[in-house]
Amino acid sequence: MYGQTEQCIDSKMAITRLACLLTLLSTHCYFTVIAVILKSNDQSPWTNEFESTELSCLIESISTNKPRIEWKKIQNGEPSYVYFDEKVSGDLESRARIREPATLVITNATRSDTADYRCEVTAPNDQKSFDEILISLVVRVKPVVPKCSVPKSVPFGKSAELHCVEEEGYPKSQYQWFRSKEEIPEDPKSSPKFFNSSYTLNSDTGTLKFSAVRKDDAGEYYCRAKNDAGHSECGPQKMEVYDLNIAGIVLGVLVVLVVLLCITVGICCAYKRGYFASQKQTGNNYKVPAKGDGVDYVRTEDEGDFRHKSSFVI
Ligand SMILES: *[C@@H]1O[C@H](CO)[C@@H](O)[C@H](O)[C@H]1NC(C)=O
Ligand SMILES: *[C@@H]1O[C@H](CO)[C@@H](O)[C@H](O)[C@H]1NC(C)=O
Repeated sequence: MYGQTEQCIDSKMAITRLACLLTLLSTHCYFTVIAVILKSNDQSPWTNEFESTELSCLIESISTNKPRIEWKKIQNGEPSYVYFDEKVSGDLESRARIREPATLVITNATRSDTADYRCEVTAPNDQKSFDEILISLVVRVKPVVPKCSVPKSVPFGKSAELHCVEEEGYPKSQYQWFRSKEEIPEDPKSSPKFFNSSYTLNSDTGTLKFSAVRKDDAGEYYCRAKNDAGHSECGPQKMEVYDLNIAGIVLGVLVVLVVLLCITVGICCAYKRGYFASQKQTGNNYKVPAKGDGVDYVRTEDEGDFRHKSSFVI
């Protein structure tokens, strides 16, 4: 072919340029006719999980009647057969088929189908008898309901962190936070409602971080995980902001309670060890000799003492 080209250009003799061009074109055609050449409508298709998709492998030119068609899946650098000997094999066995000439149709994609696939066509009767084409399939997975953690109550002026995470989504989820049904903007300065709030929002990690909460930060928070396949939200959770004064009061009450508890325990211990035993005994000693007097005694000791004495006076 190159020889012919040189000849054409070099010899400015009888052959006209048009004739030369025609020769070139026909030789070009002749060569393509005896080579297998593949093409694809889409070399990086995507689909959602549980939907169907196709890995397009089209034969642009071929002269062999029944070429050998093979598909391989390449995952983590390891190739494995998907279509071989006119049969779909492996994991895709019941979910894929070939559509003429060489397109692989997957009817119910799963997340594990995300991989590179190679369509290989061998045509022994063609001069260039082999061609291959690589297709990268992405199966998108809708996020599941994210796990959200919101502190129930935070003291005014203290820091607080809200977390939101979801692991199923593919591509990886991005996160949005909402307060009382209103989306929290990434930049608080962009909204008058959030202008004075001290938070930073990381939409990649799902963390909403307040450096110092204000009263206005209280509310019902929820988070949304989203990707190209869809989105999911966690239920709203309340975050309260309380004054540190209240905290002081609560702390004071707690201290008083602890002190009271200590005193009670102390008294109990002292009682058990017999510190009060002598007092009790004198009471009894006093009562016993008085019993035979026939005086109408009353239950409690103190009162009994009093009545006893007063009956003497009478
Ligand atoms: C697709 O596959 C999943 C399991 O991998 C199955 O639960 C679902 O029913 C299938 N859907 C269809 C339409 O076959
Ligand atoms: C933000 O704070 C400034 C001064 O502290 C105040 O004048 C303004 O009203 C506040 N804005 C909001 C939306 O609370």
